[in-house]
Amino acid sequence: MSKRILITGAGRRLGKVLAEHYLAQGWQVVAHYNSANELVAHPALTCLQANLADSEDIRQLALKLPALGNFAAVIHNASCFVPDAAASDLIAHHEMHQRVHVLAPAMITEALSSVWNPAASMVCISDIYADIPNQRFSAYCAAKAGLQNFALSMAQRLAGRVRVNVIQPGPIQFLPEHDEAYRKKVLSQSLIGEELGYGAIVRACDYLLQAEAVTGSVMRVDGGRFVANRYDQTFTS
Ligand SMILES: NC(=O)c1ccc[n+]([C@@H]2O[C@H](COP(=O)([O-])OP(=O)(O)OC[C@H]3O[C@@H](n4cnc5c(N)ncnc54)[C@H](OP(=O)(O)O)[C@@H]3O)[C@@H](O)[C@H]2O)c1
Repeated sequence: MSKRILITGAGRRLGKVLAEHYLAQGWQVVAHYNSANELVAHPALTCLQANLADSEDIRQLALKLPALGNFAAVIHNASCFVPDAAASDLIAHHEMHQRVHVLAPAMITEALSSVWNPAASMVCISDIYADIPNQRFSAYCAAKAGLQNFALSMAQRLAGRVRVNVIQPGPIQFLPEHDEAYRKKVLSQSLIGEELGYGAIVRACDYLLQAEAVTGSVMRVDGGRFVANRYDQTFTS
């Protein structure tokens, strides 16, 4: 019987690459998606839609999970990344970020409490900006910091049953709206100086899913951006 993994935000970009990777490795993949699902149908793939900014959608998703069987792994990857300046309603802006990054992982973790496989593993995809202030994205940074702290609390609570770890990516793959000047500036503030690509995060997930001695850890996969000179954060794009 193959192992089952839940990946949130798996309809496109990194989450999709992770879903395809674990399907290719022979896992049963439960892929959560929000607005678009670019995954191709596969006999070992179950897709579940939910807007994780909506508490009722989170509740409905969580209710469906235990019925799918036991889980060996979860990757909390879903994320929204909206600058504060784009928010017309500050309450809605913060609630959206907190629901997607903290409430959804918390409710999913609660829902899976009786269906973990032995020696299961959870990975939360955070950001180096969970540990660095960024006044342009304060709601996002606060929510990623919340996710990270939640993960470490779960490492305590689930000890002996589920190992829980955090990955902090740096600039893994720019968004289409990031222009050339922005890309150059970000990469100039990293030690490796190259876009890392999704493979770097896939390999980090692979490591954490099988690293039987690693729990409650925070792994930076950021090309050295955290320790590079990054004093200039006054980007215009
Ligand atoms: N890309 C980078 O360079 C970078 C850097 C640091 C950290 N990270 C982190 O790495 C992870 C993957 O990065 P990425 O660039 O692939 O992320 P992304 O495209 O920004 O978002 C990941 C997924 O989250 C989903 N999502 C957004 N809002 C949602 C909502 N309200 N409800 C449910 N799902 C929602 C998106 O689906 P929809 O598009 O359908 O809404 C998307 O599939 C994320 O956790 C991100 O924060 C990425």
